[in-house]
Amino acid sequence: MAFLDKAKRKFKYIIPTGVKKAMKYCLYSLQDFWSFVTGKGVKGYPPKRLNFVGSGEFMKIGEEFLKHFKKIGGLKSSNTVLDIGSGIGRMAIPLARYLDTNKGEYYGFDIDKRGVKWCKNNVSIKYPHFNFEYVDIYNKYYNKKGKIKANKFVFPYKNEMFDFVFATSVFTHMLPDQIEQYLSEIKRVLKPGGKIFLTFFSLDKEAIQNIKKKISYCDFGYTYDEAGNCMYSHKDVPEAEIGYKEKWIIDQLKKSGISEELEIYHGGWSGRKNPYSYQDIICAQKK
Ligand SMILES: C[S@@+](CC[C@H](N)C(=O)[O-])C[C@H]1O[C@@H](n2cnc3c(N)ncnc32)[C@H](O)[C@@H]1O
Repeated sequence: MAFLDKAKRKFKYIIPTGVKKAMKYCLYSLQDFWSFVTGKGVKGYPPKRLNFVGSGEFMKIGEEFLKHFKKIGGLKSSNTVLDIGSGIGRMAIPLARYLDTNKGEYYGFDIDKRGVKWCKNNVSIKYPHFNFEYVDIYNKYYNKKGKIKANKFVFPYKNEMFDFVFATSVFTHMLPDQIEQYLSEIKRVLKPGGKIFLTFFSLDKEAIQNIKKKISYCDFGYTYDEAGNCMYSHKDVPEAEIGYKEKWIIDQLKKSGISEELEIYHGGWSGRKNPYSYQDIICAQKK
């Protein structure tokens, strides 16, 4: 396993991101065909070839995060929830079983058309209190032809509408000015007392040391900004994997006015011991 891990890390940045996506699509199409023939596909989950949200186990990660949302995020079944970058329903599917049909509500938006279409056709159809929206925002990795700029995007929701706002593995694909805009929008749409749950690749002292020692799963070999707050791994496609200095993240949250106090649960991406999850999780409550 250690050998496989090493090989994976070595080749991770050599194959261009577009080629990697095409290879995955072909391989997973074969697996989907096999699942169809053997009747082993899991009902209510997207076929593997459509999964563009990461290489880990789709169902297991969704279940893991529902636990985190409740335990450290303070999510309640009666909440009105916003899922920023809802992907192809990895978080929405377990949430659909949890959120109260009468009192709870879910809104998700994403810049990937196929993901949003799948969620509308497979989740909203069974759970009408689950709403998905496609927005044509540019992202070099996820939506190369997008027309809207993320750093100017105004969320299509009313002020103080949500009890719980989350973004899992989304700010790990967004540039600094875009995150600043999203934090300011989160503040606007969050109710007073509302909670946020965001994941990052947070570059603290230990993570930076591990990157230097090459025991981290991400190498963040390039610096995006002069101050060195934003680091990325793929030379030509920064959005494929982005990390931020932990101090920058904390400063941005304070600047947004959401909260001066936050909790950080470090993940195992950087190779640290006893991680909470894979990415780093940040939770806070709006005053
Ligand atoms: C790794 S996937 C994670 C998806 C989902 N949050 C999950 O955990 O399954 C990253 C997602 O972020 C979305 N994304 C990237 N930039 C975005 C933006 N500016 N606004 C909203 N979603 C964005 C992508 O389309 C993609 O679905």
